[in-house]
Amino acid sequence: MAFTTPDLPYTYSALEPHIDAKTMEIHHDKHHVGYTTKLNAAVEGTEYEQWSVEQLLKRLGDLPAKLQTPVRNAGGGHYNHALFWPLLSASGGGEPTGEAGKAINKSFGSFSSFKDKFSAAATGRFGSGWAWLVVKSDRTLAIYSTANQDSPLSQGDTPVLGLDVWEHAYYLNYQNRRAAYIDAFFSVIDWEQVEANYSAAIGS
Ligand SMILES: [Fe+2]
Repeated sequence: MAFTTPDLPYTYSALEPHIDAKTMEIHHDKHHVGYTTKLNAAVEGTEYEQWSVEQLLKRLGDLPAKLQTPVRNAGGGHYNHALFWPLLSASGGGEPTGEAGKAINKSFGSFSSFKDKFSAAATGRFGSGWAWLVVKSDRTLAIYSTANQDSPLSQGDTPVLGLDVWEHAYYLNYQNRRAAYIDAFFSVIDWEQVEANYSAAIGS
């Protein structure tokens, strides 16, 4: 069964003015679809087309050498974007409540210092990549960034919040102003989705 690109859970313009409709359209319909297509092409006709994308990324090192780079890039691209879209909402923003909020405050001291640390990871990623809040195997939280489409799953962590800092995610509206885009992201984070991701990660 081939991998499919999930539909956006809102319209292209839903996140304006924070993220513009044209960026969302190109980002989802061209970039994400492109990753999914390339992932399908890489695993088609192999036993690995039966694996879930999570399984492929977690066990990257077990794949045949010729599949590792395409799965890392296209599989990571597909998985990361599928995680990203539901983390955004027109009614998002504010501060997290629930268990994820408690864990964030406990781990980083306050929401404000969490935001500073996450933003620094996103700003400091040179070139293309992602900033992450992850649950580690010992169930603690950590913030870091990865290059390109590298997924936290491949290093044994479970992402609960991710921010795409590839230029394709913000250049039309923000040009070189990545920091302004990161600020805008905090206005649309769906903390209920973060809570759901956190609960799933802690429970697994
Ligand atoms: Fe992207």
